[in-house]
Amino acid sequence: MPYNFDEIIDRTDTGSVKWSKPNVLPMWIADMDFKTAPEITEALIARASHGVFGYSETPPTFYDAITNWWKKRHALQVEKDWIVATPGVMPALAAAVEALTSPGDKILVQPPVYNHFFVTVNQSHCELVANNLLYENGDYQIDFDDLENKAADPAVKLLLFSNPHNPAGRVWTRDELQQLGDICIRHHVVVLSDEIHSDLVYDDFTHVPFASLGEAHAKTSITFSSPSKTFNLAGLQVAYFFTENASFRSRTRAVLTKWEMTMLNVFAIDSLIVAYEKGEPWLEELKKYLHDNYVYLTDFCQKHLPLLTVIPLQSTYLVWLDCSALGMPSSSLAESLLEKEQLWLQAGGKYGQAGDDFLRINIACSRLLLEEGLQRLHRAYKRIRSHHS
Ligand SMILES: Cc1ncc(COP(=O)(O)O)c(C=O)c1O
Repeated sequence: MPYNFDEIIDRTDTGSVKWSKPNVLPMWIADMDFKTAPEITEALIARASHGVFGYSETPPTFYDAITNWWKKRHALQVEKDWIVATPGVMPALAAAVEALTSPGDKILVQPPVYNHFFVTVNQSHCELVANNLLYENGDYQIDFDDLENKAADPAVKLLLFSNPHNPAGRVWTRDELQQLGDICIRHHVVVLSDEIHSDLVYDDFTHVPFASLGEAHAKTSITFSSPSKTFNLAGLQVAYFFTENASFRSRTRAVLTKWEMTMLNVFAIDSLIVAYEKGEPWLEELKKYLHDNYVYLTDFCQKHLPLLTVIPLQSTYLVWLDCSALGMPSSSLAESLLEKEQLWLQAGGKYGQAGDDFLRINIACSRLLLEEGLQRLHRAYKRIRSHHS
């Protein structure tokens, strides 16, 4: 294998948010401890060597790269003029919320869900409406009855949709998406489909772009994505959205223009082009490594942490662990892990109350670090069990 995902790279003192606590092993925020694909680094070095970093246009090759990627990876034909470049998925989502709502409108989210969805809605002039996912026997489903009821409220204008879902790790099936889409179309709810995790989908599962479901779905949605999760480029701030709906596009673009947020940096532009043009072999190896990490974690939990339920990981490198049987809120568990074991995991309550009994663990690191993290979790687990017995 030409790529060494086992290599441990020192990220301390690099300004990394993930590694910002000294002497703590961080397995929380969603970035990876791996170097990106070498082709991307080489292109960035070449760009840096040029030495001139003036204002830059986003060239046609940027849009070609996105179009080709979605066609090749997700069988979706995206026209170049449907695409708008942005420095992040969240700024673009926030702009779309601003563009497509009026004060007093309501926005649906599906907790437990990516915490910045809450931030975006709470900072808008809209009210948040929760359509909690159904959780049964270690599996997450969409509560379609509840969605139908809530979408029927004429004040509900948008659904912020995580496709695939962070933190539940679910890849939504075509049938599920169709059902969700039909409800939203029936009640004139626009779907903001956040597909940032769409490239990290494991064998046996297929990402179905929301916009691929049909003409009506494509016209009543906006898709948001980025190579940032896929190729570990979050610090370069590159993303985009696309929609067939010209009005959604121009209104959202107008908000980004108002916010002076339409220009990307030169490294962001080059990194996306190279990632999408040359990054596939690296991505395929990465997915194998991540999946092996997931299998390792699952085996470890079965053997040593039997009271924890690992929610099946269909996508992302963020494993969702049900800790309810430990009889301790996950916020206290996360605090104790940090304090006593110097292990930094994300308490599930961050993703809404529905996540209170869960921990989220980021497994995008070398196997050795994963083993170390799990040993620390095991020590905490034994301590809690001995207090309870
Ligand atoms: C579902 C989801 N959307 C968006 C983001 C962040 O996107 P960006 O950094 O491009 O704003 C994340 C990061 O974890 C995420 O999980």
